[in-house]
Amino acid sequence: MSTSREQRWSLKGMTALVTGGTRGIGYAIVEELAGFGAAVHTCSRNQQEIDQRLEEWKDKGYEVTASVCDISSKEEREELINKVSSVFGGRLNILINNAASVIMKDATQYTLEDCASIMSTNVESPYHLTQLAYPLLKASGNASIVFISSVAGVTGLPSISIYAASKGQLSYSVRRAE
Ligand SMILES: NC(=O)c1ccc[n+]([C@@H]2O[C@H](COP(=O)([O-])OP(=O)(O)OC[C@H]3O[C@@H](n4cnc5c(N)ncnc54)[C@H](OP(=O)(O)O)[C@@H]3O)[C@@H](O)[C@H]2O)c1
Repeated sequence: MSTSREQRWSLKGMTALVTGGTRGIGYAIVEELAGFGAAVHTCSRNQQEIDQRLEEWKDKGYEVTASVCDISSKEEREELINKVSSVFGGRLNILINNAASVIMKDATQYTLEDCASIMSTNVESPYHLTQLAYPLLKASGNASIVFISSVAGVTGLPSISIYAASKGQLSYSVRRAE
């Protein structure tokens, strides 16, 4: 017998990609989507943690697959979307751009490498992943894209100034694209 939750909402038959689903907010999103019946693919940079999570999700009866991907790498992003396409038969309903990186330092201490790494992971990657996923999203006929920003994107916070700039850029780009 189905619960009242299942009667109210269902994502059965839907497919989702959640970046950075092994911990934190991404993990909670994977659980929520899979709990409503969606087939979910997720990624992170740590195969061991992926394997642990896949065991947990299998025990809960969730339909979740996962692969290693460093979303700051163009080649690995392309591999990820190829993998998602093959797992979901060329269709994707939900793209959650969740994974992001934060380095805490005083503004005077950030190196150019810190800036490049944060901008590549938090801005270039979600933008490029969305471009790569576009044909799959379109093919599904019913697609949603979510970008996870931050309060830091609207209010400057000390010790995370570059992260704040990256999240502000993400929020602004998405608002402008609407
Ligand atoms: N936590 C907060 O208070 C807060 C507040 C506002 C907004 N947010 C936003 O919410 C999102 C999730 O934050 P969180 O705090 O839940 O993060 P988290 O706990 O640090 O988890 C980040 C997840 O992303 C993965 N990840 C990080 N860098 C990656 C990369 N280069 N390639 C692939 N996977 C990567 C991590 O796995 P690996 O490290 O193993 O790769 C992990 O699975 C982020 O966009 C963050 O900016 C968080």
